[in-house]
Amino acid sequence: MVKKITVIGAGYVGEHVAQALMLQELTEEVVLIDVLEDMPQGKGLDQRQSSTVWGTDTKVTGTNDWADTADSDIVIHTAGRPRKPGMSRDDLLNANVEIVRPCMEKVKEFSPDAIVIMVANPLDAMAYVALKVTGFPSNRVFGMAGILDTARFRAFISMETGVSVRDIQAMVLGGHGDTMVPLPRFTTIAGLPLSHWVSQDKIDAMVKRAAGGGGEIVKLLKFGSAYMAPAAGAVEMAEAIIKNSKRVLPCCCWLQGEYGHNDIYMGVPIIIGENGVEKIIEYPFNDEEQASFDHSVDAVKGLLADVAKFL
Ligand code: 2OP
Repeated sequence: MVKKITVIGAGYVGEHVAQALMLQELTEEVVLIDVLEDMPQGKGLDQRQSSTVWGTDTKVTGTNDWADTADSDIVIHTAGRPRKPGMSRDDLLNANVEIVRPCMEKVKEFSPDAIVIMVANPLDAMAYVALKVTGFPSNRVFGMAGILDTARFRAFISMETGVSVRDIQAMVLGGHGDTMVPLPRFTTIAGLPLSHWVSQDKIDAMVKRAAGGGGEIVKLLKFGSAYMAPAAGAVEMAEAIIKNSKRVLPCCCWLQGEYGHNDIYMGVPIIIGENGVEKIIEYPFNDEEQASFDHSVDAVKGLLADVAKFL
């Protein structure tokens, strides 16, 4: 049973992750750790006080001391620089590897049995840093992005059709960057293909908007990137681990031959359970979809080569 979850980074994403874990009472304890002095303690205390009103017994605490994170079952890494308007996620690589690497050294030391969910950008490269630095098996190191990209696509479909998001099934795979791969052919509303509901022009427009969905929010916020949907995605993954629910969700995973690729983190559909990544599901791509996926692999390969220099 999951008793303790550490959330690294007490910024917007981290605090929303901690709050959702507390509201849904998914674990006994949430430890929010950050390098900034006092800030995580303040947020932890505020959350602990709010839990009395919400009526949940999940205890959130904040700390600057890694010893307090010891023996976590799940670690969710949210710490990292966010994008500024005009930046791509890849522009964050140099800055964020210097944040993720030392944190993963601490995770290895204090929580050697944890499952790590990476959220920091550029996501696929930061998941790779986590894998290499912790040395954990790849089923215990994966990243959140496909859920977010898919959530954007589903939201736009709901806005276009007026249909409940609950009845919209979709998949956005590939790297979490400009080359991500939305899959309209595998998108359905209540079992009917998306093309039954909306015109091809509208589908194309929604695909484009979903792929640029993070940048759209960065431009609007002006001082950072999205945090509510990213936090929700990370919590959905944690919930699937905690409840061993075998959800099928798109996550950033280490490929060993799947989709024709090796030794690379990519967004693919997986079954999630108590062991983390329990199975990678291979969709029957047509040539065009495989070509888009391969193009995304090429982009992520370049990032992994860049990040490998730091490891
Ligand atoms: C996004 O797509 C922050 O990568 C995150 O909004």
